[in-house]
Amino acid sequence: MYVCLCEAITDKQIRDVAKKYQVTSLKGLRQILPVGRECGKCLKQAREILDEECAILADMCAINAA
Ligand code: FES
Repeated sequence: MYVCLCEAITDKQIRDVAKKYQVTSLKGLRQILPVGRECGKCLKQAREILDEECAILADMCAINAA
């Protein structure tokens, strides 16, 4: 699903970047993907997707540490 229509960025791209580069902030994400560069309407949803991925990664780390 497209999250950023201006830059044609999908939720999958955001999730992939979060996993591959362990990005936890919108600022970090925007250093890799140009999400929100134009109108900025996508930033809230991008943040939510990033937060979901961070929660999944945190759960995985907790499981691996146990
Ligand atoms: S929808 Fe992402 S910058 Fe416009």
